[in-house]
Amino acid sequence: MTLLVTGGAGYIGSVCVEVLTGHGYDVAVVDNLQEGHREAVPEGIPFYEGNYGDRDLLNRIFGECAIDGVLHFAADTKVEESMADPGKYFRNNVLHGIALLDAMRAHDCSRIIFSSTAATFGEPCYVPVDEGHPQVPVNPYGESKLMYERILEWYHRAHGIKYSALRYFNAAGASGRLGDAHRKITLLIPVVAQVLLGQRETLSIFGNDYPTEDGTCVRDYIHVIDLAEAHVLALEKLDENPHSCYNLGNGKGFSNLQVVRTMEEVTGMKVPWEFAGRRAGDPAVLIASSERARKELDWNPRYNSLKAIVSSAWEWHRRHPEGYQI
Ligand SMILES: NC(=O)c1ccc[n+]([C@@H]2O[C@H](COP(=O)([O-])OP(=O)(O)OC[C@H]3O[C@@H](n4cnc5c(N)ncnc54)[C@H](O)[C@@H]3O)[C@@H](O)[C@H]2O)c1
Repeated sequence: MTLLVTGGAGYIGSVCVEVLTGHGYDVAVVDNLQEGHREAVPEGIPFYEGNYGDRDLLNRIFGECAIDGVLHFAADTKVEESMADPGKYFRNNVLHGIALLDAMRAHDCSRIIFSSTAATFGEPCYVPVDEGHPQVPVNPYGESKLMYERILEWYHRAHGIKYSALRYFNAAGASGRLGDAHRKITLLIPVVAQVLLGQRETLSIFGNDYPTEDGTCVRDYIHVIDLAEAHVLALEKLDENPHSCYNLGNGKGFSNLQVVRTMEEVTGMKVPWEFAGRRAGDPAVLIASSERARKELDWNPRYNSLKAIVSSAWEWHRRHPEGYQI
């Protein structure tokens, strides 16, 4: 089976390419490298540099590679930026995604696994957040992902597209060769790594007055390899369950300060930090219930302690202080 991975030069997409090829799948990648890195995609994998919503490019890829299924990671992903520039998010995460679905239809490709997010839920009314939790996004990033989930459902009903929407909570960690090399690092663990590597003076912790134990935001961290394995399982289940969504996390929440302390424990170094104001669009607590994925997909995350996840991330940043050297 040949799979097209959109955003396959990015953080999670590149790890997924590695895991998919390990499972014996043939893979092609499309990425415009706005965040991704050519070095993250092994030589020998067909690589198309360009916009995943470009119809001509899609026709070329589907024609040349005989694509049987799509894993769709390409997106704009920054909550704060989406609050300032929502149009960018709806164009890239929704409009281009419709072009992708139409190209799939034109080439008789009916399988897609979609990278959705905990941000589709907004401010939780209960935790852990299961798949039945109301989806009321509080930022355009989450809204754009929810819109695409709904579009997938309508393409399923109208055109028989088989999909699984995987809602990741906070992805973290590395695969050894591949890690988080965003050009603009915004997520907590990589930012702490930059501080420890002397690339930033101090860590800003956004908000100390959330209704949590220590006043800082609480998040559920899931290792990127565990996420990638969930994609393979979801793909294998598409015939049995042709329209599904799964929340993917560890089911445990850690506050920003707990993450900082764990980084200090793992590295033996002190992290200089200070409180800054809340960031727009950040919910207080996001913790997943992944019971459905565990039960239906037989998904069993291997990295289930924060220490293991943080150690894996730190190891990568320590070995690749300049990311992919770009
Ligand atoms: N990182 C997380 O914690 C997290 C959590 C929830 C959901 N997600 C979702 O997972 C997916 C991957 O996230 P990531 O952290 O690996 O981000 P990333 O930025 O590293 O990966 C996205 C990739 O898509 C590419 N891309 C973006 N727009 C494109 C376009 N129009 N055409 C072609 N390529 C394009 C980028 O260059 C990048 O390589 C995203 O859809 C994101 O919304 C991530």
